[in-house]
Amino acid sequence: MSSIIVHGGHPITGEMKIQGSKNAALPILAASILIHGITVIKHCPKITDVFCMIEILKQLGCQISWEENSTLIIDSSSIEKVRLSLEEAGKMRSSITLLGALLGRKREAFIPYPGGCSIGKRPIDIHLTVLKELGIEIEQTEKGVYAKKTKAPSGKVMLSFPSVGATQNAVLASIYSDSQVILKNCAIEPEVTELCYFLNQAGAKIEGIGSKTLIIHGVSRLQEVTYEIRGDRIAAGTYLAAAVMTRGSLTVKKIDPKELSSVLELYQKMGNFVKVYQDAIFLDASKRKYLEALNVTTEPYPGFPTDMQSQVMSLMTIANGKSEIIENVFEDRFKTAAELNKMGAEITIEENPKRALIQGVKQLSKAEVIAPDLRGGAALVIAALQAEGETKIENAFYIERGYEDIVGTLRDLGGIVVLR
Ligand code: UD1
Repeated sequence: MSSIIVHGGHPITGEMKIQGSKNAALPILAASILIHGITVIKHCPKITDVFCMIEILKQLGCQISWEENSTLIIDSSSIEKVRLSLEEAGKMRSSITLLGALLGRKREAFIPYPGGCSIGKRPIDIHLTVLKELGIEIEQTEKGVYAKKTKAPSGKVMLSFPSVGATQNAVLASIYSDSQVILKNCAIEPEVTELCYFLNQAGAKIEGIGSKTLIIHGVSRLQEVTYEIRGDRIAAGTYLAAAVMTRGSLTVKKIDPKELSSVLELYQKMGNFVKVYQDAIFLDASKRKYLEALNVTTEPYPGFPTDMQSQVMSLMTIANGKSEIIENVFEDRFKTAAELNKMGAEITIEENPKRALIQGVKQLSKAEVIAPDLRGGAALVIAALQAEGETKIENAFYIERGYEDIVGTLRDLGGIVVLR
């Protein structure tokens, strides 16, 4: 299993174009099976989660090929299967969105319980409750979920929590119908919005995009579509964090700064200079005197994203004073703390309320650490870029699930990083 080796102490500086969004690409790939023909997805990130979704789609009967410039061509003319194998589905959480997509296309689906990062319990009760309330028959076995659509989804359904995946699943299951569905308390993360835009471009009729209430007027067929995935806000936030950590200066292009507002505000409050353009962000950390300690609480969008929590924890390890993080979205997302402590950080985790207290230190030091999950792994790379000496981050596969060539990208920006 490969590791990432980082020789710290080199500022991350320069200019980069950000990869396509992982969390937008995955549900859009799943949604492509609703289309009886070709879907062209441009700016699709080349990451292992996407490769894994491609394998699942191929198993279901899609013909898929890459073209140059990260363009993915999916031919979903014939979908033969409605059952996912445990091997593929178990690897990634977002396989659950195939439940809604298969229900839409084939009226039935069997999905083994999904895998993904170990950042908490990650149940699927909200997904199943919403689908049931839309009129889908659900049967849960020890191995997974069997669902059947015997009538058109309809009615007004309220999500008990604005879950990103459950909102996406409910939308996907409701597209093909001769009725209308109103979904209330929806997640408004950009990745939900983007799925809706993709579907509308293919001929779906979704109203209220970007708001907490989505109205889906059923249609009988979607048409072939070409769609360009937007820049990955979390990857952008991660590379900017690397610049903050190393007192670098970085321009990230192909990103909508509005999607990162809460994160950019935090970087600014910590003492860094940030300037936003229509589709780019410039951050300069080279002139800052010190990194300000701060408190942050993760929340659903537009609040501070849980997917940036670990990377910001790395920044706080070298801040001037004591910082606090409250994690409100995933209960088990502080595993990175123990690894950062191996590098000389001073983090304590408290229960009730669950929070991380971080006492800033001047300098981190080299260590052998283990990526606990995708974002935690990225956080360790960021920490290692600041640390004195050579840090080895094991379980690099977690990081490769979401970051396209992170090693090459950081190297191009002045980091000394290798994959071994
Ligand atoms: C998506 C993102 C993930 C991000 C998260 C929150 C993808 C592939 N993943 O995950 O990167 O961190 O949104 O922004 O897009 N929950 C339940 N029952 C459910 C569903 C969710 O209790 O049926 C809980 C979860 O355990 C978690 C919280 O709700 O505590 C948020 O989960 P959700 O919004 O569903 O996140 P995901 O869609 O899994």
